[in-house]
Amino acid sequence: MATGKHFKYIVLGGGVSGGYAAREFAKQGVQPGELAIISKEAVAPYERPALSKAYLFPQSPARLPGFHVCVGSGGERLLPEWYSEKGIELILSTEIVKADLASKTLTSSAGATFTYEILLIATGSSVIKLSDFGTQGADSNNILYLREVDDADKLYAAIQAKKGGKAVVVGGGYIGLELSAVLKMNNLDVTMVFPEPWCMPRLFTAEIAAFYESYYTNKGVKIVKGTVAVGFDADANGDVTAVKLKDGSVLEADIVVVGVGGRPLTGLFKGQVAEEKGGIKTDAFFETSVPGVYAVGDVATFPMKIYDDVRRVEHVDHSRKSAEQAVKAIKGKEAGSAVAEYDYLPYFYSRSFDLSWQFYGDNVGDAILFGDADPSSAKPKFGSYWVKDGKCVGVFLEGGSPDENGAIAKLARDQPPAASPAELKAAGLQFATSKI
Ligand code: FDA
Ligand code: NAD
Repeated sequence: MATGKHFKYIVLGGGVSGGYAAREFAKQGVQPGELAIISKEAVAPYERPALSKAYLFPQSPARLPGFHVCVGSGGERLLPEWYSEKGIELILSTEIVKADLASKTLTSSAGATFTYEILLIATGSSVIKLSDFGTQGADSNNILYLREVDDADKLYAAIQAKKGGKAVVVGGGYIGLELSAVLKMNNLDVTMVFPEPWCMPRLFTAEIAAFYESYYTNKGVKIVKGTVAVGFDADANGDVTAVKLKDGSVLEADIVVVGVGGRPLTGLFKGQVAEEKGGIKTDAFFETSVPGVYAVGDVATFPMKIYDDVRRVEHVDHSRKSAEQAVKAIKGKEAGSAVAEYDYLPYFYSRSFDLSWQFYGDNVGDAILFGDADPSSAKPKFGSYWVKDGKCVGVFLEGGSPDENGAIAKLARDQPPAASPAELKAAGLQFATSKI
């Protein structure tokens, strides 16, 4: 067995949160040798959202080191050299398979042990696989998932190998919509399949979804709703050839991309730490029920102060900000200085084809659509307000400028009294921009 190594601080997980935590540690001050980032990926922390977008573009695709953190939020790009210059140990290609919080020890699959004084859990999510449900033929070749850069490389290779072929995208959420677009941009014949009556139901209203579905259809993406994949056919090489749907129809396929949700990676800590809503429960400083153990990013269930609720968020803005908050809290505690409670305003975004939307706040209450939601417009610009208890609590905007996106963020934060639905619809985006 390899000998153990000790660090004052260990960040477990070298994804988005891991990278932003490293930057914050450097900002707050760490001595060489005090901090280690342990990651099962072979590369330094990078901006994961690039994988479903520019990484798969047919022309000039993005590649590392181009999108290491923190370029996604306009910050400095942290190359592997940055970590060595700061004396931060990047322990890559190392999967932790056992965490013992009582003895403050992590053990890797190769048997190496790491001890710490403070642990930051930043393990993110894993994909839900169709084989988890026992879907027949789900382990055939070219049935692909997307979470890490290795998955993106496999997908890129499959796109090159199956030029002009048929792709079926299973799932109508974030991965479903972003991947259908990028596969279409690669000239594949794309069909999207999902069980709900409209795409992205956890955020979109039927009206918002209608715009995206028509836009995608106009781009040549076929959409099959209200059914699921129940099996796959493969050829003698084991390569997928067809997707069998529950409604009895069969879709030919050279590539299948599956995006049926994520699962927070909390398994290592089961029974050792309090959990809630599928994640590791934390306070407003991301400290868990075990003193000195923090959890950030996708795995954290934290107090959402603005809504007096506890929630888990699987989006990049929160993964960055929660990491920064946890490190500030760790260093603040050491220095005996106060740190403000995390007061997060939910912010999600997506980009596909020429489209780009942002959402701030809470999608609860009555939704009021405004603007030009005609998918054949040269530059569609539309949005939706969500009104609850007479207040505007959430705003979605497609095609907004940076100033307009700033205005909707402010509106969602301030929650001003809403005008009547008719007045809101008539005022449109001006309701938000007039309040800056
Ligand atoms: P993240 O997944 O980034 O990192 C976790 C790291 O921990 C990984 O490197 C993993 O290998 C490692 N790890 C896990 N278990 C381990 C173990 N036992 N031992 C060692 N290492 C371990 N959001 C958004 O707002 N806008 C967007 O456009 C997108 N786009 C997008 C595209 C794709 C393809 C994905 C998969 C996700 C997005 N997201 C997004 C979501 C966003 O990327 C996500 O919420 C953050 O990456 C979460 O950050 P974390 O650091 O929590 O996990
Ligand atoms: P998701 O939760 O957004 O969507 C899952 C979708 O899977 C559902 O909408 C549903 O249509 C579909 N589904 C569920 N069961 C199914 C089944 N048996 N057969 C067919 N379809 C089924 O999850 P995702 O799109 O897989 O994304 C994974 C993770 O990555 C999430 O955490 C997400 O937030 C993150 N992500 C975020 C972005 C972004 O914020 N722009 C982009 C990509 C990924």
